[in-house]
Order: sequence, then C-alpha cells, then structure tokens
Amino acid sequence: MTQLYGVIGDPVSHSLSPVIHRGWYRDHGIDADYRALRVASGETASGLETLTRQGFRGLNVTLPHKSAVLDACQTVSSLAARLGAVNTLRRTSSGGWEGENTDYGGFLDDLAEGVDGTSPRGRTVLVLGAGGAARAVALALWDSGARLTLANRTLARARTLCADLGLEGVEVIDLEAGMARRRDVDIVVNTTSLGHAAGEAITWPAGDGRFVYDISYGPAAGPNLEAARASGWRTRDGLGMLVAQAARAFTLWFGLEPDRSVAMKRCRTALEMAGG
Ligand code: ATR
Repeated sequence: MTQLYGVIGDPVSHSLSPVIHRGWYRDHGIDADYRALRVASGETASGLETLTRQGFRGLNVTLPHKSAVLDACQTVSSLAARLGAVNTLRRTSSGGWEGENTDYGGFLDDLAEGVDGTSPRGRTVLVLGAGGAARAVALALWDSGARLTLANRTLARARTLCADLGLEGVEVIDLEAGMARRRDVDIVVNTTSLGHAAGEAITWPAGDGRFVYDISYGPAAGPNLEAARASGWRTRDGLGMLVAQAARAFTLWFGLEPDRSVAMKRCRTALEMAGG
C-alpha cells in the first residue's frame, strides 16, 4: 500500500517539499506519496488527529505550526525541545508522533557547502532577524562556535530570542545601522522578511567579497541578493537549506541518504516554471 507523507502549513500550496520528496521516492523506488496539506492556524491538534487517522507515516511542519505541534508529540528530541520548534514528525510504533527539528542541521549542512566548505567555528557571523526562522539558525551557529551578533529592527525581540535559547554574551544591534558599522563580520545570514514585499530591500554596506546567506529562495530572495551582489557580496539563497532539511527528514523516515543536488535542480526548474 502507498505510504502517506506530507507537509502541514498555511499557506502551503506553493511548497517545494512535494517536488523534493516525490523526486526522491521515484529515485529510490519507494511506494509513497507526499502531499501539501493546508491546516489553519489554531487547528494544529485537530489537523494532526485527522492525518493520524488517515494513516500518515511522516509529516513536515511549516508555518504557523512549528511551535504548536510540540504539544501534540508523544516524544520530542532534545534539539527540538531546546528550540521550541518541530519541523519533522515521525510516526512511532505505538501510533503517536515523535518530533524532530531538521532546520538546524539542514542549515549547517548547506552553510558548509556554500561558504567555502568551512565550518562557522571562529567566524564572525551576523544574523539578521529574530523571528521564528532565526531561532534554528542562531542556535546552530552558536553551537558551532561562531562569534555571533544578532541584528533586528525590534531589539527587545532579539534579546528575548537570546534569553530563550540561552545564547549568552551575544551582541544585539539595530538592523541596518548596526550592520553598516560592523566591518569585522565574515558572514551575514538574513532571516528577515524585509525585501519580500515589492519596493523594499536591505541596504548593504560594501561586501568586499564577504558572504551573505539568505534563508529565503525564489522571488523572495531575489531583490536582497541582487542588491548584495551589486555591493560586492558573495551570495547563496536558502534553497540548499530547504533541500538539506528535507534530506534529514527523508533519512529519518527511510534510513536512506537522498541526492541533494538532483533535488536542487528539480526545485530550480519548478521555480522557473512558476515564474520565479
Ligand atoms: P519568521 O517566523 O519567518 O522569521 P517573523 O516571526 O514574522 O517571521 O519574523 C520576521 C523577521 O523579519 C523579524 O526579525 C522582523 O523584525 P521585527 O522583529 O522587528 O518585526 C523582520 N522584518 C520583517 N519586516 C521588516 C521590515 N520591513 N524591516 C525590518 N525588519 C523586518
């Protein structure tokens, strides 16, 4: 019987996860389907109950459910508990759900490939943003031994993130003014949604060959990364992180290592076909 997997979120119709996972099912001859499942905010528990009854074996979790889904898990990994966010669910033998977070590892996997193949250890890294998406990134960099600074429009939110995750001694600065003053930064990681709407973009100081990693991809990442390149930054978008977190979920579900580069090509094609 065809095994059921999917991603819950809202919105979710533009998710590339079905492209990634279905491609790997074909590559590995796995009889499974992967569906984009719209579950509205506030309906995490009831949505999950329905999918449990329908026999789903594994789920990815995206906005707005990454925190709410923790309460619906039978067990949660220590990493997901530390982050307060689950993005991958695996059905347990007793029928409940085991919660994991693969955003953290997926980010590190792809950063290592994007930034000259080296680890962030000892690098000075500036993370822009303090929303939900910044949490896995900031903790991953902190645990990796990066010298971390957090920049956000709302300073109090950045301080709360540091306190929540136990990131001691991290400098918190104002978003754009702070970035312009920091000449010692090796890598900037953008997690903000600034630039996703038409007519706004981050103002980049001179990059001089330094590195910007934007965790968004497709049209959302375009304006910021074009502006960054024009100011002399090397850039990488977040498609590799999306694929790497998916690969970790696939390994959790099937015990197999999927081909990330072929999934990247499929995603780029899907984005081109969608006009992005
Ligand atoms: P996500 O969960 O995707 O990270 P979020 O929680 O809404 O989304 O966070 C969005 C991030 O983008 C925040 O860091 C936000 O800054 P604030 O904490 O000050 O709100 C940042 N952001 C969004 N729009 C912005 C804008 N126009 N200028 C500056 N920062 C912006």
